[in-house]
Amino acid sequence: MSLLYLPNVDPIPLPAPVWLFKVLHIATLMLHFVAVQLILGGLTLATVWNLFGKSGSPMAGASDSVVKKLPTVMTYVINFGVPPLLFSQVLYGQTLYTSSVVIGFYWILVIFLLIAGYYLLYRAGDRADAGRSWWWMGLVSLVLLAYVARIYATNMTLMLHPERWLALYVESGGFGGVMPKVDPTTLPRFLFMTVGALGFGGIAAALLGQYFTHTDDVKRFLTRTGSLLGAVFLAVQMLCGYWVYAAQPAVVKEGFWNSPIGYYGAILWAVFSVAALASIAAGGLIKGSLSRLLVSVAGLAAVLMTAGAVLARDAIRDLSLLAVGFDVWNRTVVANWSVVGIFLVLFVAALVLIAVLLVAVNRSMKEVKNQNA
Ligand code: HEM
Repeated sequence: MSLLYLPNVDPIPLPAPVWLFKVLHIATLMLHFVAVQLILGGLTLATVWNLFGKSGSPMAGASDSVVKKLPTVMTYVINFGVPPLLFSQVLYGQTLYTSSVVIGFYWILVIFLLIAGYYLLYRAGDRADAGRSWWWMGLVSLVLLAYVARIYATNMTLMLHPERWLALYVESGGFGGVMPKVDPTTLPRFLFMTVGALGFGGIAAALLGQYFTHTDDVKRFLTRTGSLLGAVFLAVQMLCGYWVYAAQPAVVKEGFWNSPIGYYGAILWAVFSVAALASIAAGGLIKGSLSRLLVSVAGLAAVLMTAGAVLARDAIRDLSLLAVGFDVWNRTVVANWSVVGIFLVLFVAALVLIAVLLVAVNRSMKEVKNQNA
């Protein structure tokens, strides 16, 4: 019956197999989710530390150190967001385009929220450089960026419910300015990404303490407090993850464990969440080079944990859409391998370039710091 609500499939066949688009989508979305957790988690921690840290204290020093990195992180949030958006529009265009139009006002609002949030990050970094407090700018930026997350969580839920589109469209007079009524799955997936992001943020703070030049006090604060908060909020994220699963309709829950992507994704997520939690907790308690090793292991585990979450999320989406008559695998494919080959070469080259860029930025930041010292 729900097929009635779905727009016709694009008559142009897919230029590459569905599995290839899926692999690319999952790989790039994992990078986007890592960056999203870093920006939301890092900004929350830095803002709170800036609010409560007295001038000259390790807490204030740590907050300044974190906020100065955030504009760079933001470039990765955006640039790692574009590729999965393109891949998901190829695979799920019938539903994702439609739900985006149905809440079009909010979907376009994202651009303005991003510009304002990004601007405030730069201004906060400037104030940190000048030794001035900036927490209120961080707070406004955080609210704007968290609202972007809310719009994403809402749209990614709405795209799974074609039966809700028409009523919403009519209600908003075609303007796209009415948010859908609360769905039981939206809050847990929003909290998983936002509150859960503090786990990743804590690990990143500890890594910052271990790998960047700071005074001993600031280094200790970043490592200890970052590790403690990282461990606590990784546990909170695990609870949110279970809540995301528990809030799904019965048909999705039943199919989830029979879907290899869901099954292995959930196991990967659970195993590496526990590994990240254990190593960051131990890294915060132990001193010396072992602490640096454990914090690094936690960082790697957190990336793999995110990969698991992205896989499990993918299974949940496909099962939800299957229940309303949309099968993502059911597409006409006319593979154009020469174009696919060129794309893959450019894609890998771009990833290598990004890595080179990161190393170069890191090196130049250290040089500037040494010159100023
Ligand atoms: C600070 C800015 C941003 C934040 C906080 C953010 C946050 C999020 C969150 C929380 C989700 C998961 C939603 C859910 O499934 O419940 C998400 C998904 C996504 N975001 Fe972002 N995002 C940001 C910017 C962007 C930008 C600029 C783009 C692209 C231009 C982008 C592309 C995507 C895509 C493609 C997905 C998932 C699509 C899919 O499911 O296939 N994001 N984002």
